[in-house]
Amino acid sequence: MKDFTISLKGKVALVTGGSRGIGRAISVKLAEAGADVAINYLRQRAAADETIRLISEQGSQALAIRANVGEYDNIQQMIEQIEREFGKLDILISNAASGVLKPAMELTERHWHWTMDINAGTLLPLTRYALPLMREGSAIVAVSSLGSVRAIPNYAAVGASKAALESLIRHLAIELAPKGIKVNAVSAGTVDTDALKYFPNRDELLGESKKRTPTGRLTTPDDVANVALYLCSAFSDQIQGQTIVVDGGYSILA
Ligand SMILES: NC(=O)c1ccc[n+]([C@@H]2O[C@H](COP(=O)([O-])OP(=O)(O)OC[C@H]3O[C@@H](n4cnc5c(N)ncnc54)[C@H](OP(=O)(O)O)[C@@H]3O)[C@@H](O)[C@H]2O)c1
Repeated sequence: MKDFTISLKGKVALVTGGSRGIGRAISVKLAEAGADVAINYLRQRAAADETIRLISEQGSQALAIRANVGEYDNIQQMIEQIEREFGKLDILISNAASGVLKPAMELTERHWHWTMDINAGTLLPLTRYALPLMREGSAIVAVSSLGSVRAIPNYAAVGASKAALESLIRHLAIELAPKGIKVNAVSAGTVDTDALKYFPNRDELLGESKKRTPTGRLTTPDDVANVALYLCSAFSDQIQGQTIVVDGGYSILA
């Protein structure tokens, strides 16, 4: 019998938006598997501190980096800090997201660029700056949502940004596969995080999602983190450029 435990001992991970919600669950999961984890946040230092505590509890090294992933110079400085602290990067999780929830016809130029820059625009500079620190066997995972392929009221900007993100995943995958780096995405159904507070119809959304989901429950941050962990492990080494959906079967229903 073989021991199939996933071990990321000796690996270094960066999780953007790792301070809260899904990003926190991924950060803690990677630490549980033995990785040292740098988390990025923008505004809420207290949430970042709590995630640092949870990572440290696992015996892993933890670092919080304040940076706006919508700004190239912030991304560059964040990667420089990782280089100074850890000297390398094995796992890059592009999870931070923002966006304006409005009908498409009410989106201003600023709303559109804000959403596209943070959600779709980040992964390219993030990968470009991080690549010199990444060796063969490294993994990149982006966090996407069902809005990339489905039309959801008020979700035009975020949905379009996630579609661009998933396309970029495929293009990065073919460029980085020869270097032994895999690039994939995990796409989640509705997850009850702080992000949902900004939906005008939050309660309705949660109720409807739960009712429609074949497994009879909402997707949790931990469900998403489990798939992210798998995509960072050697068990997924032949998976390249894919978006894995974690939604309890929600999206397969007609
Ligand atoms: N919740 C859902 O239903 C759902 C479903 C599918 C996919 N997703 C995706 O899952 C990911 C995480 O979502 P979530 O629901 O966990 O969100 P969340 O609870 O709102 O957390 C967002 C995280 O991103 C950080 N962040 C936001 N803007 C940033 C910026 N410009 N630069 C750096 N960090 C920034 C936040 O840091 P601060 O707190 O410091 O601002 C926080 O750590 C996103 O990619 C989202 O699209 C969510």
